[in-house]
Amino acid sequence: MQGTDVIIIGAGAAGLMCAFNAARRGRRVTLLDHANKPGKKILMSGGGRCNFTNLYTEPGNFLSHNPHFCKSALARYTQRDFLELVGKHGVPWHEKKLGQLFCDNKSSDILDMLLAECDVSGVDLRLETRIDSIEAENGGYRLRTSAGPFACGSLVIATGGLSIPTLGATGLGHQVARQFGHNVWPTRAGLVPFTLTDPQLKALCGELSGTSLDCLAQCNGQSFRENLLFTHRGLSGPAMLQISSYWNPGDTLEIDLLPGRDALQWLQQQQVEHPAIELKTLLAEVFTRKMAGLLCEYWFESRPLKQYNLPQLRDIAQRLGAWRLIPAGTEGYRTAEVTLGGVDTREVSSKTMESQKSPGLYFIGEVLDVSGHLGGFNFQWAWASAHAAAQHV
Ligand code: FDA
Repeated sequence: MQGTDVIIIGAGAAGLMCAFNAARRGRRVTLLDHANKPGKKILMSGGGRCNFTNLYTEPGNFLSHNPHFCKSALARYTQRDFLELVGKHGVPWHEKKLGQLFCDNKSSDILDMLLAECDVSGVDLRLETRIDSIEAENGGYRLRTSAGPFACGSLVIATGGLSIPTLGATGLGHQVARQFGHNVWPTRAGLVPFTLTDPQLKALCGELSGTSLDCLAQCNGQSFRENLLFTHRGLSGPAMLQISSYWNPGDTLEIDLLPGRDALQWLQQQQVEHPAIELKTLLAEVFTRKMAGLLCEYWFESRPLKQYNLPQLRDIAQRLGAWRLIPAGTEGYRTAEVTLGGVDTREVSSKTMESQKSPGLYFIGEVLDVSGHLGGFNFQWAWASAHAAAQHV
């Protein structure tokens, strides 16, 4: 039996962060992961440049059944605190847009930084370790694993969400939560592209595949002004990923392809100013020529503007300014950046991340029912929740 103060399951963003912060407090920490490498999602993140935090992180950037839960941890370990760590390691970074901070070089700069901190603080990292069972025993926890039995006083679950199983995601964290009497909110894929079944719409998106444009996407009272990307499978790009977290099967999406302008007013004005111009030519001024041509092939008939009456202009304006569609679904956990739902935060301390059902058991990171918007918020939640637990384990 290998005894230690703290065992953390999951050597991802939250697990690594918690491990060295607890070890710095003099705790003996063992970090277990079933994968052959730590931090695989960190390496894949931000298109290989890890969008590691967001300058404008605030509780409103997170979805949860218990929206107040994230406030305390986010306030006690902020984006500035993480930037200080990044600065200490000399990792070069830049702001891309909207407060999103990325590495100048590679995501591995962030992983190497976390591993270096674990190394100097004496964290015992064990990879390729399967967890077979967990039991509460003598005021602590006893684990059976493929590397033998372990015992610890504090057990931290940092196994993340269900997104991208090929990167090591499993439902272990949710299982452990249920085993110790926790409620787990139903999970679904978030920050994920939409799929379509309507053959005509699918064909249009396929032909436009690779085209990206500014839009305003709305669903269930939420809206995001960002880029939309047409793909062979359907609709992607930041606007679609963001709104996907608010979408449930069967819900209608509304997309304004002319954000910032009143589509009908604009068409009427163009009709007065350029009565002889063809609709296709006019649309090519705001979209690509190819897109304008395809919209006129699939949605509208292209004629000189003077030939449209008001109801016809209204129809065109409706399509462009408030395109309504019901996606068939999403690409699911195969490509989702996050998992919505998870361990019910009403049964976890917002100060320490400790279970209110089983003392000495902690949940941090994405396994909890806290999911961020796109833009570095999910990592900031991993850092902040991990730091909170690390002060208490
Ligand atoms: P994380 O998933 O990082 O770690 C969980 C660890 O637990 C893994 O190492 C896994 O192997 C291990 N584990 C799971 N099951 C286990 C088991 N049964 N036994 C042992 N170990 C087990 N966010 C952001 O803010 N900015 C970004 O740029 C991106 N980009 C991005 C790209 C892609 C492709 C994805 C999939 C996700 C992102 N994200 C992101 C989201 C971000 O990666 C995610 O929210 C955090 O990694 C969550 O950190 P955790 O530590 O909670 O889980």
